Amino acid sequence: MTDTALVIGANGGIGRAVVNELLQQQYSVVAISRKSMDVQHPELQCLLCDSTEADIDSLIQTLTELKGRLSRIVIATGVLHQAGPPTLAPEKRLEDIDPEQLMHSTYINTVLPAMWVAKLLPLIKGSKGSPRCVIAALSARVGSIGDNRLGGWYSYRSSKAALNMFLKTAAIEYSRRAKNVKLLAFHPGTTDTTLSQPFQANVPEGKLFTPEFVAQKLVGIMDKVPVDGELSYLDWQGESIEW
Ligand SMILES: NC(=O)c1ccc[n+]([C@@H]2O[C@H](COP(=O)([O-])OP(=O)(O)OC[C@H]3O[C@@H](n4cnc5c(N)ncnc54)[C@H](OP(=O)(O)O)[C@@H]3O)[C@@H](O)[C@H]2O)c1
Repeated sequence: MTDTALVIGANGGIGRAVVNELLQQQYSVVAISRKSMDVQHPELQCLLCDSTEADIDSLIQTLTELKGRLSRIVIATGVLHQAGPPTLAPEKRLEDIDPEQLMHSTYINTVLPAMWVAKLLPLIKGSKGSPRCVIAALSARVGSIGDNRLGGWYSYRSSKAALNMFLKTAAIEYSRRAKNVKLLAFHPGTTDTTLSQPFQANVPEGKLFTPEFVAQKLVGIMDKVPVDGELSYLDWQGESIEW
């Protein structure tokens, strides 16, 4: 049976690179995005999906008809800033706190990946000896509570910390109901995409990664990571990040 990979947020900088890397690794890839991709490949199927629960439900229905076995899932959606609506800009101080920004960031960074992790369970669950399936959600080191020394970026930090807690809780339930599945919260490092673009000026030399480099690292980690019933919170080097 063909190994199929699912990439959600396939038109983002990192999402696109992950799609390409998985195609190079001979996966059949289902790419999900709000807009169609400008990539053609015989093993690539693009599906459109907005960010509502109804859209995700309808996509899950389509995915049940897949012939291949889903063995890699990458959730690459996320938001840090946008022109709007609503306008999002990382907050520097408490006076910048805006409920709409907090809610939108939480919806995209926490609720959206949470819905996918919840709704994919019936499609990928198996018993202990079943072929493994690895789900990686793009988190961020700034979602670490222990690592937060600089402050700021309230909405982004909080929504990524909430994502980590959701994934940790889901990993506990998956370990009971889907013993073949591994969950991973992944920090790519500062990567040259639209998301990091306004904040790249102070990145030390050699520390701004290409999406292709990050995609290779992530796919490599997903190949090796053991199915141990735990959530791993790992950076691009495969090193654990404190919670
Ligand atoms: N770049 C970095 O330095 C960096 C560092 C740490 C963590 N990360 C994380 O890595 C992930 C990917 O980021 P990126 O750098 O590739 O950024 P990007 O190029 O801006 O891509 C953002 C992704 O989020 C999705 N998205 C944004 N707004 C959305 C909305 N309203 N509804 C549904 N989907 C939405 C987009 O999906 P579509 O495909 O539908 O457009 C796109 O895939 C994010 O979770 C980010 O937090 C990035």
